[in-house]
Amino acid sequence: MGFLQSLGTYVSLLSLCSSGVADPFNGTKPQSYGMLFFPAFDSIDVFGPLEILQFLGYMHKIDVAFIAETLDPVSSLPLTENKFNSHTHTSLTPTHTIHTAPELDVLIVVGGPGMRSNSLNATIQFIKEKTPKVKQLITVCTGSGLAARSGVLDGKKATTHKTSWPGIIKFGPNTTWLPDKRWVEDDSGSPPIWSSSGVSSGMDLMLHFVETYYTLENATWIGKMMEYVRHTDPNDDPFAINGTTLLRV
Ligand SMILES: *[C@@H]1O[C@H](CO)[C@@H](O)[C@H](O)[C@H]1NC(C)=O
Ligand SMILES: *[C@@H]1O[C@H](CO)[C@@H](O)[C@H](O)[C@H]1NC(C)=O
Ligand SMILES: *[C@@H]1O[C@H](CO)[C@@H](O)[C@H](O)[C@H]1NC(C)=O
Ligand SMILES: *[C@@H]1O[C@H](CO)[C@@H](O)[C@H](O)[C@H]1NC(C)=O
Ligand SMILES: *[C@@H]1O[C@H](CO)[C@@H](O)[C@H](O)[C@H]1NC(C)=O
Repeated sequence: MGFLQSLGTYVSLLSLCSSGVADPFNGTKPQSYGMLFFPAFDSIDVFGPLEILQFLGYMHKIDVAFIAETLDPVSSLPLTENKFNSHTHTSLTPTHTIHTAPELDVLIVVGGPGMRSNSLNATIQFIKEKTPKVKQLITVCTGSGLAARSGVLDGKKATTHKTSWPGIIKFGPNTTWLPDKRWVEDDSGSPPIWSSSGVSSGMDLMLHFVETYYTLENATWIGKMMEYVRHTDPNDDPFAINGTTLLRV
């Protein structure tokens, strides 16, 4: 083996050993994010990770595109389950449609009761077509169910909102659903797919993402600004469904 060849082998072994998995960003920092949402999205699924990205934007140049089927404001009002006709919801204005979405480093698919709708075929098609073109896919809460409906979770491991468990895992019959994780990182393919459990767990996943691809210092600072106590261990899930519970669903 020539000197250059053995040096190359040594360097690639070294980088494999130090990082564990291939870096989808190839040593650069992710810069363009897209947040995909739909009618009856869950507020925290959007605004939890967004809060983290807004603080991150003070430290690094990043951009977030807000993506929906049209440019019309999208309400978080549930499609059903509002028997008191309560007025507690708000709308989010997209910056892009699924047809004008920019190139993205990271696509974030949020969840919420509306993810079960039969009117999301164009959104689901977007997830299917966009996923191979991004460097990382992140799902929050039942957003993993929407991703599963597009097929991108086939053969992958993932998690989702524990209270919605039985209904959501049906969307991904070929997905290995892990019921006792706060979040799951599937780095087996390109792009890596990281899925969070319910609602607030999206913030833990996002802070872990900041720690992984920016710095621990940045993640710690953002947690401090939010006065938020992170779960740093994906196996530490207070809402885990254990074996006994699973048998009952
Ligand atoms: C990764 O970065 C290196 C160093 O900047 C560059 O030479 C290489 O082409 C990049 N690889 C890809 C796949 O972008
Ligand atoms: C969406 O796709 C599903 C499955 O292909 C189909 O059954 C359904 O009719 C479609 N919905 C609409 C509104 O086109
Ligand atoms: C699941 O995988 C099996 C084997 O690869 C395949 O036959 C089946 O069509 C897949 N089902 C879905 C829903 O993707
Ligand atoms: C964020 O991380 C960058 C390095 O990527 C560092 O220069 C900066 O000081 C950090 N800022 C905070 C507040 O952690
Ligand atoms: C699983 O959950 C059930 C119901 O909450 C509880 O009774 C049981 O002790 C739990 N088992 C384990 C191994 O944690």
